[in-house]
Amino acid sequence: MDRLETTGYLAADGFEAQLEQELGAGSIRGRHGRLILADGAARSAAWAANVWHDVTEIEFESISQAAKALRDMQRNWALYSHRLHRRASLIQEKLPHVSAKPLVFPAALPKAPLGSWMLLDANRLLASPHCSSAFANGAVEFVENKSAPPNRAYLKLWEALTLADRWPRPGEVCLDLGASPGGWSWVLQSLGARVIAIDRAPLDPEIAALPGIEYRAASAFALEPQSVGPVDWLCSDIVCYPAKLLELVMRWLESGLARNFVCTLKFQGETDHGASAAFAAIPGSRLMHLHHNKHELTWMRLAA
Ligand SMILES: C[S@@+](CC[C@H](N)C(=O)[O-])C[C@H]1O[C@@H](n2cnc3c(N)ncnc32)[C@H](O)[C@@H]1O
Repeated sequence: MDRLETTGYLAADGFEAQLEQELGAGSIRGRHGRLILADGAARSAAWAANVWHDVTEIEFESISQAAKALRDMQRNWALYSHRLHRRASLIQEKLPHVSAKPLVFPAALPKAPLGSWMLLDANRLLASPHCSSAFANGAVEFVENKSAPPNRAYLKLWEALTLADRWPRPGEVCLDLGASPGGWSWVLQSLGARVIAIDRAPLDPEIAALPGIEYRAASAFALEPQSVGPVDWLCSDIVCYPAKLLELVMRWLESGLARNFVCTLKFQGETDHGASAAFAAIPGSRLMHLHHNKHELTWMRLAA
């Protein structure tokens, strides 16, 4: 058993290049599929779906020996299967069963620690007993609602609120910027919140007709916080450059009128790492790539 001096970062699927750019080529020591090993203790990495702490390399002779070595470290393990899939699944089958049932939103975050492991070759594996995500390979799956919401964007908000381990309570006021056709408004309304939905495009008529949703046809950028008043949650899924969203967020932060923020940064073409870093630097906030994000990041800042 050999503890490595590196941290493992499992890139969000399809965003390996963004993660490498974020970590900086100089610190990268190796790559196995989506798992990038970089020097030193863990750093914040928005494009990582999961961070592997205390990465250890283990040599073994047999499937049973590999499983025993993992079991001796801790109980629950998720496999990142990159190569030798059959051998890896035979080892995984000898480990305690870990429930991977999709969540029914709203649900509390799983509390049990979940380690991650992968095969390097037939007789060597990498294991991390402590990972940043409570979900296998950072993938948060839900029992979907295929009839009520008008699109699949609601899954992003379900995931963000689940990871925040907090969501709007009945009667709270939510401002939904870039709301159309209404997936996020549907989520907020279904939690019992009062929703002010802002978009230049109309909401889906079925969403607009729901009680507690007030639609205003306007540009989110022209909206003065004082004209809206205090809101418990400011949510934004506006299609715009991240730098423009940053100006809007700073205006609301300075106003002190929004308690919690959940905003999507959408990238068109090149990833704007500068704007991402500016969001990440806002005190008390977190920036992450959700399992349901595309070429996007989600920024959250929750009231203390
Ligand atoms: C990805 S969609 C939002 C999807 C929505 N969150 C949902 O769950 O259905 C992006 C929205 O941003 C809106 N948008 C673009 N510019 C805007 C602006 N200046 N003000 C308000 N909304 C804007 C678009 O009209 C579009 O409806």
